[in-house]
Amino acid sequence: MTDLDPRALRHAFGSFMTGVTVVTAHAPHGSPIGFTANSFTSVSLDPPLLLVCLAKTSSNYAAFCAARGFGVNILAETQVGISNTFARPVEDRFAGVTWRKGPQGAPLLEGVSAWFDCAMHKTVDAGDHMILMGEVKAFDANAKPGLGYARGAYVRPATEAKALTPRTGLVVSALIERAGKVLLVDDGQGGLMLPEMQVEDDSVSATVQKLIAQTGLRGHAGFVYSVFEDAQRKRQHISFLCQTAEGVPAQGAFVGFEGSALDDVSDPAILTLLERFRNESALGNFGIYVGNQIRGEVRAMRTRE
Ligand SMILES: Cc1cc2nc3c(=O)[nH]c(=O)nc-3n(C[C@H](O)[C@H](O)[C@H](O)COP(=O)(O)O)c2cc1C
Repeated sequence: MTDLDPRALRHAFGSFMTGVTVVTAHAPHGSPIGFTANSFTSVSLDPPLLLVCLAKTSSNYAAFCAARGFGVNILAETQVGISNTFARPVEDRFAGVTWRKGPQGAPLLEGVSAWFDCAMHKTVDAGDHMILMGEVKAFDANAKPGLGYARGAYVRPATEAKALTPRTGLVVSALIERAGKVLLVDDGQGGLMLPEMQVEDDSVSATVQKLIAQTGLRGHAGFVYSVFEDAQRKRQHISFLCQTAEGVPAQGAFVGFEGSALDDVSDPAILTLLERFRNESALGNFGIYVGNQIRGEVRAMRTRE
């Protein structure tokens, strides 16, 4: 156990990640005031209450304690500069930021992830800090990822998660069957392939929908038929069994399984997938393949009536 040395305690308090906010209000003479705070906590939904802790050493201590309300601005990942401005002795912290008065009157900063405009509910004396408890009168939130703070450093979880994501691609393909035939398209090298699309910014299901739309057929994705890691091409592959309405495809053609029809399928992993599909279609027993492009297992899914 560590003894209660304030520095060690500060370090321990700071060892979990918090968000970063700028707490704002108006001084009695009307000018905006604010400080960076990571002590923000939601308290109650009914009534809607939140709190922040203000150091008694703050140059704005008296003004905040006397304020009729205050605002909490949850900073976005891109707003490290604003956090620094409101944590340092800058003469006019609002000079370099765009802000407006909220419905309840507190200064609200532009570009934040969320804001809460509060009436002062109560102040609670708490050691070297004062707890400012606010009743939320108005708020707004958006999808901007919030800035984090842990162990004395800023953390940008969304940006860092993106950077950590392995650079392997994710590809979805559509296995569209009609009357014992499957839709195959030109692979650009004289062979055939399943219609496929790289997953970029959209979700997997949105990408499959786009892919189906691209075939010119109306339809939707059914169950996942195969999931495999294509180590050679450094990508994950998810193949969806799709149902489509009648119609002529915009690209490619429906190819039957008989004879050497599948010989032109260039990717051996897709060829294996199609051969399995041919066998399972004949039997009416479908499974889902999970593995890599060479080895994996087929897990039973359902039996066709
Ligand atoms: C990430 C971060 C979080 C902070 N959290 C708080 C807090 O919750 N309460 C507080 O009083 N000060 C907090 N501070 C320190 C104040 O922002 C800082 O002391 C500021 O200079 C106070 O300014 P003032 O004296 O003008 O009020 C934090 C600073 C940083 C960088």
